[in-house]
Amino acid sequence: MSPLPPEAPPLAPPVEPEHAIDEAGGTVAALAALSTVDTTVFDGVRDRAAAIVLRYPQARSALLPLLHLVQHVEGHVSRAGIAFCAEVLEITTAEVSAVATFYTMYKREPVGRHLVSVCTNTLCAALGGDDIYAAVRERLGGIGHEQTSADGTATVEHAECLAACDLAPVLTVDYEFFDNQTVASAVEIIEALQRGEKPHPTRGAPLTDFRSVELLLAGFFDDPAVGGLEAVAGPSAAEESLRGARLAEERGWTAPPVPDRETERSGARPGNEGANA
Ligand code: FES
Repeated sequence: MSPLPPEAPPLAPPVEPEHAIDEAGGTVAALAALSTVDTTVFDGVRDRAAAIVLRYPQARSALLPLLHLVQHVEGHVSRAGIAFCAEVLEITTAEVSAVATFYTMYKREPVGRHLVSVCTNTLCAALGGDDIYAAVRERLGGIGHEQTSADGTATVEHAECLAACDLAPVLTVDYEFFDNQTVASAVEIIEALQRGEKPHPTRGAPLTDFRSVELLLAGFFDDPAVGGLEAVAGPSAAEESLRGARLAEERGWTAPPVPDRETERSGARPGNEGANA
């Protein structure tokens, strides 16, 4: 007697129309809802949006600065913001969502007046970054990652390397650096922000606020809304970071030449060009 054929796998349950995935990766219902979102809140920045688009040979390349412009208006990327970008760039809301949810600089919830980012990556953590993060959260009312204090002063987040390891532990406020921090100095910064003050970063531009910085990140560096170019000027390199370059200069050290691809492909070695002649 021949063995019974293996049981056929159960059929997948039918997909409800509102859960169907379109070719761009969004649910049909969610995308349809986004296409009807009111975007009039962005009417005041439509000229700026058009100026951003003109910087690029293809409109879709303008998405990243356009998302910063959205955050300048609303303090985060809302559903209306996603719909606005899709409308301006003539791309799908799914394409905008995919980008907006990939990069941590685009926020899904409204950010407070300031964004405080505390580095808790290896070097900063080893030098006190975890304690600083805990103290900052505590001073802001016991809030957690990407939460905002009840008075709206600041949203806090832990960051994984703010690219200032030689000055660890560091935190940034609206992306401006406060280097070589301690628990006490970090708490002082938060208390100053709560009083409405703008403590001066240890390097870089003077503080403004999160939404103004978002206008800068959208590429409007000399916009009167952020105080003009003088408001964003400031030396950004720290002496510690330049030390290696200065030593190399003093001692005449240079990097070895980088072989170009053509030379490599032809098998010749740089500096040996005449060997096969
Ligand atoms: S580990 Fe904190 S800046 Fe790199």
